Amino acid sequence: MDRYDKKTMSTTSSTTEGTSLGEEIKSLEREYLLQNYARYPVVMHRGRGCYLYDVEGKRYLDLISGIGVNALGYAHPRMVRVMREQAGLLLHTSNLYYHEYQGKLAERLAKASGLQRTFFCNSGAEGMEGAIKMIRAHGRKIDPAKYEIVSLDNSFHGRTTGAIAITGQPKYRNDFEPLIPGVKFVPQNDLVALEQVVSERTAGLVIEWIQGEGGINPMTTEYAAKARQLADRYNALLVFDEIQCGVGRPGVYFAYQMSDPVILPDVMVAAKPLSCGIPMGVIVSNEKAAASIGSGMHGSTFGGGPLACRLALEFFDILDELLPSIRKVGCYFRLKLDELKKHHAFIKEVRGEGLMIGMELDIPGKQLVLDALEDGMLINCTHDKVIRFLPPYIITEREVDIAVAKLARLLKKLKPAPSCTLRPPLDL
Ligand SMILES: Cc1ncc(COP(=O)(O)O)c(C=O)c1O
Repeated sequence: MDRYDKKTMSTTSSTTEGTSLGEEIKSLEREYLLQNYARYPVVMHRGRGCYLYDVEGKRYLDLISGIGVNALGYAHPRMVRVMREQAGLLLHTSNLYYHEYQGKLAERLAKASGLQRTFFCNSGAEGMEGAIKMIRAHGRKIDPAKYEIVSLDNSFHGRTTGAIAITGQPKYRNDFEPLIPGVKFVPQNDLVALEQVVSERTAGLVIEWIQGEGGINPMTTEYAAKARQLADRYNALLVFDEIQCGVGRPGVYFAYQMSDPVILPDVMVAAKPLSCGIPMGVIVSNEKAAASIGSGMHGSTFGGGPLACRLALEFFDILDELLPSIRKVGCYFRLKLDELKKHHAFIKEVRGEGLMIGMELDIPGKQLVLDALEDGMLINCTHDKVIRFLPPYIITEREVDIAVAKLARLLKKLKPAPSCTLRPPLDL
């Protein structure tokens, strides 16, 4: 019997004779979409809480939440209410006119970030493009030769040409070169290399506090302090990319707030979970950086629409209450993964903050991701060997227990690298 509930499906649910709905969707995509994504072979239909359901009705515990976007899981009643209400009022005005919510959200972001002025856009990469323009405009005002940008090896800042130019992984850049000139890459957490590369020609430094796509690699506080010091010494803008590691994910509003005292950037870019699934990105800056962009120098048709802004305001109200739980459940999750590590020598390290967690293996992680999918759990592998967990912020210890029990079962099936000895697997 077809487990799929036809009542909840739109008119596109009809299938041609003998073809499953999933197959029909996949075949349409094969014919009509750019073939840039390597999708997993499931067609998702709906979600509730921490769970997603495919068109067959199979349930998945979601530990990746749309790569860090679905912070409140699926169909959160408060977000659904706001969305319904706003859809009947006003969806788009363009930035020719004011609406109620941009100013309120910008005030909220200023209070949460310790910075001052916001520009609204639609995605992380668009935010990074704007930040690059700020860096360039800031440098140019001082001296046309001050245009260099320092970025980190292994970093990831998005897929637009500006964002890939500052992304420290050749695989994302090579096909599109030559890119914007003047970008210098240095290893993360190498203070000497950083000191050597920053100069009078540096207009900006761009850093993720915890590298996400690069394999969940945290920056040390000393390194952040050195970056701040060098930016001040050479009058360059310090930009933190908080697109993956920020907006509550580490258990504080923004990852740079984990340092004590807080090391403030000049510019911070955030996106992913801001409107919990409706596209939204922001550049938030201090007055100095904001002064680099004058009237007419930047803009975005869709940026800061009333729906996205109102959803983000609602999300921030909910996030205030969720931060302690993100820290507590994140800690519990890492502890449980550390227990698994004791029993599987091919788990090299568990690292991360809050609900941004990486489990590095010394074997490729692809098979584990596929096995988990089969077993009704969504995880992701980055940098070939790092299993990445970005669960919704509403996840509880109970769901972590379910996830870790599944992982324990799946890990038993994995083959270790030839050189590593396997200790008895843990029974959970
Ligand atoms: C750290 C970081 N910066 C930038 C981006 C690009 O964001 P988007 O895909 O919304 O353009 C991402 C996306 O994964 C990211 O993780």
